[in-house]
Amino acid sequence: MHIKNPIYVTQPHLPPLEEFIPYLQQIWESKCLTNNGPFHQQLEQALCNYLSVKHISLFTNGTIGLVTALQALRITGEVITTPYSFVATAHSLLWNGIKPVFVDVDPDTLNLDPSKIEAAITPSTTAILAVHVYGHPCDVDAIQKIADIYNLKVIYDAAHAFGVRYHDGSLLSHGDLSVLSFHATKVFNTFEGGAIVSPDAKTKQRIDHLKNFGFVDEVTVVAPGINGKMSEFSAALGLLQLKGIDSALQQRRAVDARYRKAFANLKGIRCFSAVHEDVANYAYFPILVQSGYAMNRDELYQKLREHDIIARRYFYPLISDFPMYRGLPSAAQSNLPVASQAAKEVLCLPIYPGLTEEQLDTVISLVKG
Ligand SMILES: Cc1ncc(COP(=O)(O)O)c(C=O)c1O
Repeated sequence: MHIKNPIYVTQPHLPPLEEFIPYLQQIWESKCLTNNGPFHQQLEQALCNYLSVKHISLFTNGTIGLVTALQALRITGEVITTPYSFVATAHSLLWNGIKPVFVDVDPDTLNLDPSKIEAAITPSTTAILAVHVYGHPCDVDAIQKIADIYNLKVIYDAAHAFGVRYHDGSLLSHGDLSVLSFHATKVFNTFEGGAIVSPDAKTKQRIDHLKNFGFVDEVTVVAPGINGKMSEFSAALGLLQLKGIDSALQQRRAVDARYRKAFANLKGIRCFSAVHEDVANYAYFPILVQSGYAMNRDELYQKLREHDIIARRYFYPLISDFPMYRGLPSAAQSNLPVASQAAKEVLCLPIYPGLTEEQLDTVISLVKG
């Protein structure tokens, strides 16, 4: 069956427009558009409550959040990170003049493999920048253990991990800082946006200074900060989005369950285990297209495209294969066999609230061949 409207890997979740109008009216009346306005303050509090974390600083996007998190902890030298992520993860290191050192991923989760970290540590290593890929938790205990022994900071790129719970609490409370993305494609969006989760008020305060040019007050600048502030428009949307988030997550969960059931006995298609987290967010539905399947990953990707289904190869190419990284010794494929294989096999299928039964049936029947 050929369908007319493309089905993308995701579709931004938006509330009914009429519910957003009263927020806009308030902005027009107050003329407060940005700089820690009322919606910004309310959203920080509301997110702390929803996510069960103590301190949140909102950002204009997740990338500036990552750049600032590294600044806030004064990270320098070398940082251990994963090649299997969106390119912004490693870019945030280069923006700080830090050398990324790529370490391979765990075959079960495709997150940084703790058993490979120690061998990559040198006297210049100051931190570990790990990613909860697809919202699945890293082995946070093993990573913290290594960080404690070698006196390293731990920053989690938690762009995919909104709302995930692990070890009886928020996944976002692990490590020294966690950075969220509220980009349009994410489980929770504020058009563009992001946030840093801090463990204490002092760290949050430093981050809040850094995202506002380093200003502490009208005449005092304490650091070469950046403009990372979230606008009132984005914060207002965030407040409204929070009202619908539980229902959105339920709908994602139903799509995830349908795919899992459909592919349970499909030879050569591997789904990821959903057992690691206490509460998952179903941000993505990655499959690995392996030997035994009727075609390779790129052929399946192409076949879906021919039927207007735009699945995405997250994460191919690996970050370590982009020109600004591939000259690093740690970027060699021989150093990253698991990530290299996953990048050849992975395909993320459409998952979002509002994906219809009919659309889902179409995707499933094409994958089942
Ligand atoms: C893993 C990861 N890190 C960082 C980012 C960057 O976030 P943003 O687009 O909000 O700058 C994204 C997505 O966009 C991402 O998927």
